[in-house]
Formats: sequence, structure tokens, C-alpha cells
Amino acid sequence: MMFDKSAQSGRECPAPLRDLHVAVIMDGNGRWAQNRGWPRLVGHRKGAEQVRKLVEVCPELGIRYLTLYAFSTENWKRSTEEVLGLMSLFARYIRREAGRMKREGVRLRFIGDRSRLDDDLQALIQWIETETAGNDRVHLSVALNYGGRDEIARASRAMARDVAAGKLDADEINDNVLSRYLDTRDLPDPDLVVRTSGEFRVSNFLLWQAAYAEYVFTPTLWPDFSPKTMENILKDFSLRERRFGGVKV
Ligand code: FPP
Repeated sequence: MMFDKSAQSGRECPAPLRDLHVAVIMDGNGRWAQNRGWPRLVGHRKGAEQVRKLVEVCPELGIRYLTLYAFSTENWKRSTEEVLGLMSLFARYIRREAGRMKREGVRLRFIGDRSRLDDDLQALIQWIETETAGNDRVHLSVALNYGGRDEIARASRAMARDVAAGKLDADEINDNVLSRYLDTRDLPDPDLVVRTSGEFRVSNFLLWQAAYAEYVFTPTLWPDFSPKTMENILKDFSLRERRFGGVKV
């Protein structure tokens, strides 16, 4: 349990949240731009701006872990222009935000299959992960070329290889063991998954990890998603009861 339910005497007074893991499916960048007659990439650029603002307020909102779905294993189907534009936006974000992340104690990690990314981006990712590895105030994880099914398939291949090498006993494989083979092995499971833009789908995001997460769907398009939007979502979340399959006590 990531928030203090004992202090929650009535619905009007939620307990302060802390050490939360919030995961976000940032949707609606394209529509936001198209509604204004602008190219889709303008929406992605504005979306990156909102990411920066959200990361900044994580400590005061009680978010210790923020995991963002930036590019799915299916997003390669988009136009070459959009895919290349997004890739250069990710690289620019890393370069531009490196100093701030180091100063503000943000640890940046990437989840997903990075082997398909170009070499320069892979090197940049490796660099920023090392540069921020000692930070512990906010854990920002960006899902890039990420798909939940793909992640589980990669984990299964790695386990099979370890079984073949005699490093793992097949009979000992359980959910804890499998978790340790996932890209998220160093992260707690998400408490809350938010999806923007009025879509009600999970879209292959953190399929394994979100087994007990709460979901919030908001009509706000990601480029309009502000720290205040997150604050309101967290107020609602703090009033929900999470039982993890048990009964109310
Ligand atoms: C989905 O909206 C959004 C994406 C595929 C890209 C998300 C990327 C960012 C917010 C940019 C920066 C991110 C980081 C971590 C620096 P969509 O394009 O599918 O929107 P639509 O459904 O309106 O077309």
C-alpha cells in the first residue's frame, strides 16, 4: 500500500500520497496539433514540454516513480517523418534535460527493446542512464519501442537461455522470478495507470506490472495535461480503496 489509509477518516480528507508509481499512456498529441491545423510533430513537441513540467512537480505530488509510454512496438507503422521526428525529439530531450535531471535528482531509465533504435540514440540512452544512476528523488522511466507482450516474450527467451545454461531451475519459475527478467526489474509495480485523450484501452502497456493498478482515463489530450490535471487525478485516486484481491478491513 503506497498511501496511509489509516489517516483517511472521510472522503473529503485523503491522506497525503508518497512514493507512488504512476504510469502514463500519453495520448492525443496528433489530434491536439491537427485540431489547430498544425503538423503532428508540433503536438509531440508540446507533449515533451508537458513531460518536463510533470517531472518537475513529481516530488510535491508524492510521485517517486513516473513511467511514460513514449513509443510502442506498433508505432513504427507511422510515417517515416513522424517516426524520425519522434526519435530526434527523444534524443533532444535527453541532451537538453540532462543537466536539470542531474541537479534535481532524477534517475532516467528506458524500458523496451532498444536494439532496434539507431546506434546514436542507444549510446545516448546508455550515457544518460549512467549519468543519472546515482539519483533517487524521482525515477523517470521512458518506454521506447516498448510492448508488454514483447517484454514478456523477451523475458521468456532470457529465462529459457538461463535454464539451458543451468543457471535457472525451470520448476522454480514463478511470478517473482519472471518479474526479475522484465525491463522493469528495478521498479515497483505501478499504483496507477493514467491514459489521456478519452481512449479506453491498455494498448500493450505494462501488461504484467499493472495487474493490480488502478486505471484513470481522462479526456484531456496529452499536450494539455498539466501538473494540475495530475493533481486532480491523484485526489480521486487517493479516495479509492485498493484491496489487492483481499476484502475490506
Ligand atoms: C501518442 O499520441 C503519443 C506518442 C506516440 C508520442 C509520445 C511522445 C511524447 C509525449 C514526446 C516526448 C516524450 C518524452 C518522454 C520526451 P498520438 O500521436 O497517438 O495522438 P493521436 O491519437 O491524437 O494521433
